Amino acid sequence: MQNDLHEANRLSWNAATAAHNSHKGDQGAFFCNGGSTLYPEEIELLGDLAGLDLLHLQCNSGQDSLSLARLGAKVTGVDISDEAIAFATRLSSESGIAATFERADLFHWFEGAQARGAVFDRVFASYGTICWLSDLGLWARGVASLLKPGGRFAFIEFHPFAMVFDETWTPRYDYAPREPISEPGVGDYVAASGAGLAPNGYEQGVVDFRNPHPSFEFNWGIADVVQALIDAGLKVECLREYPYANGWVGFEGMRDSGGGRMLPPETMPSIPLMYAIAATKPEAMTQAPALKRPETIIRPYRAEDRDRLVAIWLSASRIGHPFLGEERLLAQLEMVRDTYLPMADNWVAEIDGSPVGFIGLIDRFIGGLFVVPEIHGAGIGRGLIEHAARRLGHLDVGVYADNASAVEFYRRRGFVETSRQETDDEGLPFAVIHMARAS
Ligand SMILES: C[S@@+](CC[C@H](N)C(=O)[O-])C[C@H]1O[C@@H](n2cnc3c(N)ncnc32)[C@H](O)[C@@H]1O
Repeated sequence: MQNDLHEANRLSWNAATAAHNSHKGDQGAFFCNGGSTLYPEEIELLGDLAGLDLLHLQCNSGQDSLSLARLGAKVTGVDISDEAIAFATRLSSESGIAATFERADLFHWFEGAQARGAVFDRVFASYGTICWLSDLGLWARGVASLLKPGGRFAFIEFHPFAMVFDETWTPRYDYAPREPISEPGVGDYVAASGAGLAPNGYEQGVVDFRNPHPSFEFNWGIADVVQALIDAGLKVECLREYPYANGWVGFEGMRDSGGGRMLPPETMPSIPLMYAIAATKPEAMTQAPALKRPETIIRPYRAEDRDRLVAIWLSASRIGHPFLGEERLLAQLEMVRDTYLPMADNWVAEIDGSPVGFIGLIDRFIGGLFVVPEIHGAGIGRGLIEHAARRLGHLDVGVYADNASAVEFYRRRGFVETSRQETDDEGLPFAVIHMARAS
């Protein structure tokens, strides 16, 4: 988990939440008059809530939490933003709808809640949640550990495929990138969405909001989410995709097809803009999954690691260097096994006795850094870099320019570009960026 990025997001959300609420008018009156901010999709996913204990993850200012409480649930809402939780608590008392709101980083809250034995019939998260979380495995284990056996996780989210596009529908971003994306800050998407996200009627409020605090996003793919839930022991009951986004005008020319279901312009083909998952905790799963990942240790290479490291190299290279083509990768595999591994000073990251990544050093040059793709983003690569830096100080590396997430990975670890060559070491037309980090 990347605490520092979560903390940066907290500041960014504090500023943005005040701007968002400035557009939503008198929300106390809205709820007193029987208002609800829920859409039919989430009500259907959750089922009958009367008398059920419901945990609302990343509840922001509590509008959905109070709408759920009105359906009969005993709601606990958790969010990292001070501004959001203060607003939610006020709104609960103004509207007379009871709910409990707690301010915490979700991952810290999970640990505390598990320690006190808290459990819920329903766990719910909606619209713009997991993109703020740095560890999806921990998220899924947290959900699983806090559900009662037989309980249900209801999750509805904007579709990661839509995140490939910029506001003008131009494909600009990698699908499910492995590195966090830094942004100038959480924006005023409520202003951009108008009545779509202000069911009480849109008010002008804060004009031309500029967030002074940068933010960091993690755009997880569908497979990341489903696999994390399965790995946490949950049974995925349904997975749905929707060609519209509820309330959110995230792109140019979106139009309301009724009830706040925003569609792309008519000239565009249909694409998925939201998805939903319902997953249950099996009755037989009485043991809560461990929230903490087993510790990673870093140790010197041993000859018996060779085949496992070569397999890690191949699976990670297929993700990072697909532009090389399978044939070239298989030829490189032989060189990695027979030449590079034997000549380098290799260090292995191991979890539960099994290698999950390695770094190969030639003097101060990082000849290779590879981690099992399923746990990219979990800090293993970062740990290997810091281990090498502690031993050697100054580090150099050469990265394929087409491997944008690797370039970004090194940049975030303090490496700066020193030079660029237009061909790789074999003289092939794949540009390589040379980067260095001072001691
Ligand atoms: C787009 S909002 C979710 C909106 C929500 N569906 C609602 O009911 O209004 C995302 C929320 O995630 C919260 N958040 C971001 N990172 C978090 C973290 N690490 N732990 C808990 N909450 C977090 C933000 O403060 C923000 O309120």
